[in-house]
Amino acid sequence: MKRLQQPIITLLTLCLLTASTGWTRDTTADEPLIIDFNERFLPTVARNGMVVGPEQLAAEIGTSIMRQGGNVVDAAVATGFALAVTYPRAGNLGGGGFMLIHLAEGNRQVFIDYRETAPAAASRDMFLLEDGKEDLMREYFSLQASGVPGTVAGMLHALETYGTMSRQQVLAPAIALAEEGIPVSFALNYEVASRGKRLRDDPAALRVFFKADGSPYEIGEIWRQPDLAWTLRQISDKGAAAFYQGEIAQRIVAAMEAGNGLITARDLADYRAIERPPVRGSFREFEVLSAPPPSSGGVHILQILNILEQDDLKEMGHNSAAYLHMLTESMKLAYADRSEYLADPDFVDVPVAQLIDKAYSARQRKLINPHKATPSSTIAPGQALHPESKDTTHYSIADAKGNMVSNTYTLNASFGSAIVVPGTGMLLNNEMGDFAAKPGHPNMFGLVQGENNKIEGGKRPLSSMSPTIVLRDGAPWLATGSPGGTRIITTVLQTVLNAMAFDMNVAAASIYARIHHQWLPDEILAEDGISPDTVRLLEQMGHKVVLGGQTIGRTESIMIKDGWLLGATDTRRPGGWVAGY
Ligand code: GLY
Repeated sequence: MKRLQQPIITLLTLCLLTASTGWTRDTTADEPLIIDFNERFLPTVARNGMVVGPEQLAAEIGTSIMRQGGNVVDAAVATGFALAVTYPRAGNLGGGGFMLIHLAEGNRQVFIDYRETAPAAASRDMFLLEDGKEDLMREYFSLQASGVPGTVAGMLHALETYGTMSRQQVLAPAIALAEEGIPVSFALNYEVASRGKRLRDDPAALRVFFKADGSPYEIGEIWRQPDLAWTLRQISDKGAAAFYQGEIAQRIVAAMEAGNGLITARDLADYRAIERPPVRGSFREFEVLSAPPPSSGGVHILQILNILEQDDLKEMGHNSAAYLHMLTESMKLAYADRSEYLADPDFVDVPVAQLIDKAYSARQRKLINPHKATPSSTIAPGQALHPESKDTTHYSIADAKGNMVSNTYTLNASFGSAIVVPGTGMLLNNEMGDFAAKPGHPNMFGLVQGENNKIEGGKRPLSSMSPTIVLRDGAPWLATGSPGGTRIITTVLQTVLNAMAFDMNVAAASIYARIHHQWLPDEILAEDGISPDTVRLLEQMGHKVVLGGQTIGRTESIMIKDGWLLGATDTRRPGGWVAGY
């Protein structure tokens, strides 16, 4: 009885859903979508195209591009430029990121690295004071904190190589948003207020983010960004050359020269987005594709999946102490390797194949005592992680043909360096902080950082960004990613594990409480929702658990099931949106 009723109930609900959001359900869909209504968290459903991202206007621009006949890459580029207007804390022109694309035609994947590069004049000890301490203000909140931005090169490379629309078509919506203005949302008002002090310190940022009298824009007020509209229009008219050689470049260089920054006209002219093969591995019937170096994310997600594949995780129970113990111990092993081996592969020989080799993980699995925590100090000596910003942003896109885009990009900290290039409306990143500022010596947290990720001119700082796509039995199945600095890796890992190992739908996989362990400090960060009893059991095994107070990551995910697109925006931060039709 229940089996017979479910498809009918599902279709009825779907009609209500589509009606209430203005979607039109594609009547050619021949298979009803079967959802188990006993699940506590349900995804949003669409048939033809979907964009899941951190902000509504930009997500809807992505679907409107697809409705006009654009493909997922056109939508990804339009969404990326729109987020630079609507989501300034992490959407950007002045930062960098990674885009992973699954092309249904030819069943192939493409990875575009548009990570920032260190200016040629950057050097290993540039952020050290005379007494050897790190100058954190210069490292994070000065013009020297910025790497050469990669976003414009990356987006336009994606468009020109894999898109179908013109630059003018995909940039027009972002230009309109900047020119005509957007109503300030609760999330935007909150985000600007959180960084208000720093943004007010920079005269150009003060002009962009506050009214002429210095007061903040209230919720619902219209916020216009004429300088950013000019910048976007330059890119629309003249392409990447406007940014890297033309008038935008001139304004960036003028700001650098006026403020002791390092980025030169030559650095900008030399910037290139790079296509690299994504890292790929398997977990049971799933193929997992993710970001290669200079991201550490894909390598460690695959490494941890390899370690855990050998255990019956479902039998242990989701978020049971036994499962969280195994997860934690695998995370420790992977993050210890991260500090030792991961960096820009154009400067350092990164042993990717060895790290994601199942035989290596089988040896690592043997190091794990299933009943007892192994102290991090005994896993590997000396090397440790640089603390990374928890900001950045991700969006996922899919269409009915099974094309997918998983894009993570960033300014590093929320609003980057909080410095706007005068006359451009554009915030600069502070990605130089992702290098090891003081390799071989304890940093402000008493940790020691690896030489591989030292600052060098032209090098890309080590990242954790992990745009990921999972194929199931060879077909595109899940696109996901997250902000969160080093927590990106464990967030994406638990999301894909929830779906692959625990059969959760995409909404449930996004919502359940997460943990994070990054080897050092030797503690589990656990979100509210991990039971105190479980915490006690973990403590009895020798773990230190820091429970609650902080959320871990914020995923934006799409799953394809029976030809339907199921989307989920993580509720850990405000403003996320699933746009579908
Ligand atoms: N800036 C954050 C990351 O690249 O991981």
